[in-house]
Amino acid sequence: MRKKIVAGNWKMNGLAETVQELSNAVADIQARCEIVVFPPFVYLLTVIDMLRNTPVRVGAQNCATALLGAYTGEVSAPMLKDISCRYVLVGHSERRSLYGETDAIVAEKFMMVQQVGLTPMLCVGETRAEREAGKTFAVIQAQLDAVLQTAGVSAFARAVIAYEPVWAIGTGLTATPEQAQEVHAKIREHIGAIDGKIADSLPILYGGSVKADNATALFTMPDIDGGLVGGASLDAAAFAKICHAA
Ligand code: PGA
Repeated sequence: MRKKIVAGNWKMNGLAETVQELSNAVADIQARCEIVVFPPFVYLLTVIDMLRNTPVRVGAQNCATALLGAYTGEVSAPMLKDISCRYVLVGHSERRSLYGETDAIVAEKFMMVQQVGLTPMLCVGETRAEREAGKTFAVIQAQLDAVLQTAGVSAFARAVIAYEPVWAIGTGLTATPEQAQEVHAKIREHIGAIDGKIADSLPILYGGSVKADNATALFTMPDIDGGLVGGASLDAAAFAKICHAA
């Protein structure tokens, strides 16, 4: 049995007070799945301290490709490890589209996160135009191959993948459970063609307008192992329902 994970990506939302309220609420969720939250960098330590004696894991939304040095404004993977982060989001579509992160940069970050002993949560997904042009899997395959070629398949024994169709992120449009399942199965098949055992145990989360009312249908699909939740993770009650659905 693969473990189910529900992760909340808070993006650049909240101030100290709301972050504390949300952390308290997340600490109270009783669910069978693993729960992960990705607060903004400046609140990471606060949230890690608040969730220290709970099963909830905390992750960072990004990290630098370099280990240390003259990189003004960047945060390194060793720093994240030092403050007890467990996960790092890598290649979120907003990083790819707004900050020019290429497949090669994403692969470097993936390696860096693993190198310090943290777990990368690798985001992949196609745009609406790519889906309409029938290129969904070609795009995702290229995103996966960039990491597979740099890190090797064994790296996926210590990673999580999040399939997030770009057209579904923050738009209220969700992939149907069947559309998502189709892509999840292909991702698993692609990795399974190199190593079946690793593919079988690899958690693949769905992200893109996951809400309390669509989570159950998505999470019951055989290759969907939970969700990466943006907007709805800022609403403690909705996020709790999504965790219970997993
Ligand atoms: P959303 O965001 O749930 O608001 O669509 C998901 C994500 O970007 O991880």
